[in-house]
Amino acid sequence: MKVDGRHFRSIWLEGDGWSVGAIDQRRLPHEFVVARITSVEQAGEAIGSMLVRGAPLIGATAAYGVALAMRADASDAALDRAHEMLIATRPTAINLKWALEEMRRTLGPLSPSARTEAAYRRAGEIAEQDVAINQAIGRHGLELIEGIAASRKPGEAVNILTHCNAGWLATVDWGTATAPIYLAHDRGIAVHVWVDETRPRNQGAALTAWELGHHGVPHTVIPDNTGGHLMQHRMVDLAIVGTDRVAANGDVCNKIGTYLKALAAHDNGVPFYVALPSPTIDFGIDDGIRQIPIEQRGAGEVTHITGRTAEGRIETVRVVPEGSPVANYGFDVTPARLVTGLITERGVLRPERAALASAFPERASALKATFDAAPFSAVSTLPPRPAR
Ligand code: MRU
Repeated sequence: MKVDGRHFRSIWLEGDGWSVGAIDQRRLPHEFVVARITSVEQAGEAIGSMLVRGAPLIGATAAYGVALAMRADASDAALDRAHEMLIATRPTAINLKWALEEMRRTLGPLSPSARTEAAYRRAGEIAEQDVAINQAIGRHGLELIEGIAASRKPGEAVNILTHCNAGWLATVDWGTATAPIYLAHDRGIAVHVWVDETRPRNQGAALTAWELGHHGVPHTVIPDNTGGHLMQHRMVDLAIVGTDRVAANGDVCNKIGTYLKALAAHDNGVPFYVALPSPTIDFGIDDGIRQIPIEQRGAGEVTHITGRTAEGRIETVRVVPEGSPVANYGFDVTPARLVTGLITERGVLRPERAALASAFPERASALKATFDAAPFSAVSTLPPRPAR
């Protein structure tokens, strides 16, 4: 997508043919800074520190990280070390595991002398595939927006609520939740986006608003607790969010606060859609609430907030009293029953195992075999869920 008229992706291979460029998302919206990643250690640090973030981009960065590792040392031991280090950077987005397994499947059978070139090729394919998938998600989601727009008076905007940043910054390009919005806007359909600020890191206020603004999409940033009120007053036509992992039963894990928006949408009859690329589906687990590992992040993200002063300085200030304990769960899980549909590259699916497995049979069978061999351990101590 465009930044001040120039086309950018969130990550790319630099002109030297080996180092990796990425937009430093920690500095947005105040500064546009490009980072150069030259080692697997730096790739791991970029994911862990959230220089790059968003499930698909985390996967693409990890793939390039493996390529950088192979450039330095293409032995079996180095491949194992890169995999172990990168997989530990963030626990929730399944795209990280998917990309690392893709790299291992490609590189494992090759001799070390063939690995570096193959690693860069596969990492590049993973990045290109993400762009193509998101464009397809955009086309399917566009039909939903067009359907609502058709019932509107000319020029009356379709109001879409989104949470966190599932935009082009969270992917390689286009975004997942934003792809239908960009397509609709580019085709002249009037859209307006309610952007949840998404505390504590403010991915909505800082990143989604920045993206939409640069593309000229009308939007309004709202405090996280506003969505329910807007829905009660018929000011939201549909919600579209992204996801970090979708369980085989259709449960959706996304940025903390997504579940509350889904509850409010359900209570008010507002369609609640989740946009996702197929690498975000985890066919190895059947119960998102009990089995998806939820990242807990540092207290500093809650106790402090960073912004730009009137004089242009970037400053971080404390907003919580000294000594108050803090909890910082990064994600929550929205049960499938609250999800209207999953917008994938192969169409809009019902959030249930049969629909996911029949749309992506190659992934369903491959992952089932993997998980049968090494079952994923449940991370929650919740009692079994009552049947619905
Ligand atoms: O902690 P983050 O910023 O990596 O969380 C990102 C999200 O929750 C996104 O909504 C999700 O990764 C989907 S991105 C297309």
